Amino acid sequence: MSDQPYFPESKDELTRLEFKTDRASVIDQARWAGLSPGMRVLDVGCGPGITTCALAEAAAPGGRAVGIDRSDVRIAHAKGKYASESVEFSCRNFFDSLEDLGQFDFVWMRFVAEYFLKESGLLIKHVTQSIKPGGILCLADLDHNCMNHHGHSERLEKTFRKITEYQMTNNNFDPYAGRRLPTRMHELGCEDIRVDVRMHHLVYGELSEFNRWNWWQKIELAAKRSGWTFEDYEDGFAGFEREFVEYFNNPQRFVYTPLVIVRGVRPANA
Ligand SMILES: C[S@@+](CC[C@H](N)C(=O)[O-])C[C@H]1O[C@@H](n2cnc3c(N)ncnc32)[C@H](O)[C@@H]1O
Repeated sequence: MSDQPYFPESKDELTRLEFKTDRASVIDQARWAGLSPGMRVLDVGCGPGITTCALAEAAAPGGRAVGIDRSDVRIAHAKGKYASESVEFSCRNFFDSLEDLGQFDFVWMRFVAEYFLKESGLLIKHVTQSIKPGGILCLADLDHNCMNHHGHSERLEKTFRKITEYQMTNNNFDPYAGRRLPTRMHELGCEDIRVDVRMHHLVYGELSEFNRWNWWQKIELAAKRSGWTFEDYEDGFAGFEREFVEYFNNPQRFVYTPLVIVRGVRPANA
C-alpha cells in the first residue's frame, strides 16, 4: 500500500496537530460514541498523543488507551509527554498486523481516512479486526475538507478547487472522507450504527489568534507543499498567499468544515 507522499512529518505539523486538538471535544465525541469507564481503547494514527490521553481520560476510571502511529518523532513526543499508567504508545505502521496489541473494547480513528483515498476501506476493515466482538468502532473525518468558503474571489475559489483536485490525484488525499464513513460501517456489517455531524472549522467575524495561526500553518504546510503550481498567480504561491491572507483577515469571510462521526458495534459473531 502506498504511503502518503506529501504527508508533513515536520515539527511544525506536530505542533499544529497538538495545539489544535481540543481535549474536551475528543472526550465528548468519544463518549457520544459509547466510550465508557473501564474500556480498553486503541487510537489509530494518534499523532502527538494528546487524543490518546483524552481517550484514556474518557475511559477512566479503570480504562486504558494505546496510541499507534508510524512516525517515530510523534511517538517519542507522545511517550515523553502523555505516557502514564493508563496511556501507552507504539510506533508502527497501522497497515501491518496489530494482533500482538490484543483486542480492544473501543477503536478510534480520527483524521486518518482523509489521507488514504485509495486504501481507506481496506484500512478500516483491517483495524476492525482489533475490536472485540461486541466492541465499538468510531471513525471521524472531515467532509468537503477546507472547501466551504464565502466572501472570496473566483480566482481563489478556483485555486482551492485545483489544490484539492491535485491532492486527490497526486497525494492520495480524500476531501470527502467524512461522507464515506457511514457506508464503510455498513459494508463491515456493524450494528447499532449512529452518525453525528459537528462543526470542526467555523470561522466568522474577527479572526481569532488561534484561527490565524492554524490557517496560516495550513496554507504553508498543506497548500504550499501540495505540489500545485498556483498557475493563476503571476508570482505563484506568493500571490495566492497574499490573496488568501487578505480574504481571511476580512471579518466578512465565512468558512466552515463539518466533521462526520460514525460509530458502530462489531457483531458478536464477526
Ligand atoms: C492528521 S494525524 C491524526 C492525529 C489524531 N488522530 C487526531 O485526531 O488529531 C494522522 C496521523 O496518521 C499517521 N499515519 C499516517 N500513515 C500511517 C501509517 N501507515 N501507520 C501509522 N500511522 C500513520 C501520521 O503519522 C499522523 O500522525
